Amino acid sequence: MKLVQAKDYDDMSRKAANLLAAQVVLRPESVLGLATGGTMLGLYGRLIEYYRQGDLDFGQVRTVNLDEYVGLQPTDAQSYAFYMRENLFDGINIRPEATHLPSGIAADVEAECAAYEALIQDLGGIDMQLLGLGPNGHIGFNEPADAFPVATHQIELSESTRQANARFFSRPEDVPTRAITMGIGTIMQARRIVLCVSGPAKAEALRRVMTGPVDPRVPGSVLQLHPQVTVIADREACSLLPNL
Ligand code: F6R
Repeated sequence: MKLVQAKDYDDMSRKAANLLAAQVVLRPESVLGLATGGTMLGLYGRLIEYYRQGDLDFGQVRTVNLDEYVGLQPTDAQSYAFYMRENLFDGINIRPEATHLPSGIAADVEAECAAYEALIQDLGGIDMQLLGLGPNGHIGFNEPADAFPVATHQIELSESTRQANARFFSRPEDVPTRAITMGIGTIMQARRIVLCVSGPAKAEALRRVMTGPVDPRVPGSVLQLHPQVTVIADREACSLLPNL
């Protein structure tokens, strides 16, 4: 894992946006794996700026998102489909039909998971996957568990993750209890991975991801086994790493 230390959230966002931008410049038809959450807002804002300045063209880019809540319509303001339109897709020239998220309202969730996994293969796999990190070490919505889940699957969200995400909902009880997420195997097949981490609340998780044993109870630790991972983390997130 290559660690790039950033000064703060803004610096992390710029560095991550620059890596994504380079990927799109070098391979305009890239398949980008995208994430949601607070960590990504700054970098998506930058990508929109680059597009507006005429520096980036998303006309051939395809995207697949990591996850979606089960039970939320794509028009629901808390759905990840809505987040992506609001914070990235509506600000750039990506073709709507080239953007993909798991459907949270599929009647047959198992079939939806299998179809999503097949879609990623059909697109030729993910060129660059963006990841945030949960305070409990989760990536996507792969929560701490006894084993690494391989493929796209449905998951029961942990209480700590529901609490961490409650800030996006008007009432804590509105946070869905289930989500569909790419599996660890899906993520690990991406050709390159960029993990973005910001703030003191993630410091312990980042320490365990980077220096602890590979352990499904810290799902992000599996990234130690991937040959092309860049971690972009700000000073606060790096505060518990040794020798920094
Ligand atoms: C979001 C996702 C999650 C988040 C993580 C960090 O699509 O897959 O793993 O990246 O929960 O969330 P924030 O950035 O809100 O701290």
